Amino acid sequence: MDHIKKKFVEKALPRVAEFRKLLTEHGDKVIGEITIGSVLTGMKGMVSLLTDTSKLDPEEGIRFRGYSIPELRKSLPKVNPEGEPLPEGLFYLMLTGEMPSPDDVSFLSKEWSSRSTIPDYVYKVIDALPLNTRPMVQFSTAILSMASDSKFMAAYLKGIGKQDYWDTTYEDVMDLIARLPRIASYIYRRMYHDNKQIDPDPSLDWAANLAHMMGYEKYEVHRLMRLYMFLHSDHEGGNVSAHTTHLVGSALSNPYYAYAAGMTGLAGPLHGFANQEVIRWMFNMIEEIGPACDDKEKIRKYVLKTLEDGKVIPGYGHAVLRKTDPRFTAQLEFGRKYLPDDPWLITMTCLYEVVPEVLGSISKIKNPWPNVDAGSGVLLLHYGIKEFDFYTVLFGVSRSLGVLSQLLWDRAYGMPIERPTSHPLEWFKKQAGI
Ligand SMILES: CC(C)(COP(=O)(O)OP(=O)(O)OC[C@H]1O[C@@H](n2cnc3c(N)ncnc32)[C@H](O)[C@@H]1OP(=O)(O)O)[C@@H](O)C(=O)NCCC(=O)NCCS
Repeated sequence: MDHIKKKFVEKALPRVAEFRKLLTEHGDKVIGEITIGSVLTGMKGMVSLLTDTSKLDPEEGIRFRGYSIPELRKSLPKVNPEGEPLPEGLFYLMLTGEMPSPDDVSFLSKEWSSRSTIPDYVYKVIDALPLNTRPMVQFSTAILSMASDSKFMAAYLKGIGKQDYWDTTYEDVMDLIARLPRIASYIYRRMYHDNKQIDPDPSLDWAANLAHMMGYEKYEVHRLMRLYMFLHSDHEGGNVSAHTTHLVGSALSNPYYAYAAGMTGLAGPLHGFANQEVIRWMFNMIEEIGPACDDKEKIRKYVLKTLEDGKVIPGYGHAVLRKTDPRFTAQLEFGRKYLPDDPWLITMTCLYEVVPEVLGSISKIKNPWPNVDAGSGVLLLHYGIKEFDFYTVLFGVSRSLGVLSQLLWDRAYGMPIERPTSHPLEWFKKQAGI
């Protein structure tokens, strides 16, 4: 057993005992109320999940095991003291609740590198899809195709007991995370670089290796990829990709099934697809009104026109957040430090000055501020990763760190199958006295 798995057991055992005690002794304690509105508006704010890895505060944004993004950008181990934290460290923190040492992080880089070989049939599955198949379709198909490799599934079929489910789930989680950069970069090179594939470099960390296999060798891109993989990893349990992974996993579907399902949720325009929509929308805006920051009134009009056409402004708004997303702020800071004169960064900054004011004047919109997707594409564009159709795949690779840590904890707790109750409209009308 590797030392991180041992550490996980050490942490999980007492916590699982607390979980059981809580359920046995206080399972009937009331912790909230459900209104008709709660059900009819997507269960917003309804407490319904247990998630340890991170917590989202509407005003402050995400904290991973209690630490904010600025705190972790300072304190998580890095390759270069001036650089960005290694996502391996964040995974360790989410999994164990403890800050990793540089040795823990370098162990994970090596471990993932050693587990990263993709079975040949997966490449064949991807190659069987037409070249113009959307990147997220190729990505989730590839993940699903690997489910036959699931160690959990094999152990389950052999008849392991419930108490041991977490053990092979850990192995699947590690294998799956390790393989994702290879799969993502394979799709990228296949679609945009004549299928000229680049071998992994085992001396690189997980995020840098992804950039390397996509064809980006500069330290600056590796630094950005580390930030990107860190920022998109987790956003507590209720977001669509995390909740879907959890829900599908609750049927004891193996981690490949559960994560692939999560990825099909991430592919939606209101979730991870928004990162490509932001760039498409910005490109269209520049085409229509010219260099944006020359005249903010023109931007305002363009934003209003988008709204009048019945579309959303991508990258703005959030189901939980009520302030600027600190993941956006981190990207803005990164941009101002390393690419202050980039025209897209300047456009993004102008939009930040105009969009919240416009959205803020519409009473139904609960949050007019930018979310993570408003900033990520601009940074990728700057370093030449201009194929924005692909951006959601990068989001998906990063999201694996959070949703798969959550799934492992679900297995440790022995979470049961999720099965809420539903009713027809008449039932709700009756409750309302109609
Ligand atoms: C993220 C998002 C889906 C949250 O949705 P939500 O929780 O329903 O948000 P709200 O409660 O504020 O929505 C209330 C209304 O305002 C609208 N609204 C919210 N954000 C908006 C935006 N950025 N542009 C235009 N309208 C918006 C909603 O579409 C909804 O309209 P409706 O009642 O006519 O259906 C929404 O803000 C959105 O669509 N944003 C753009 C897409 C995006 O960036 N997604 C990535 C999120 S990380």
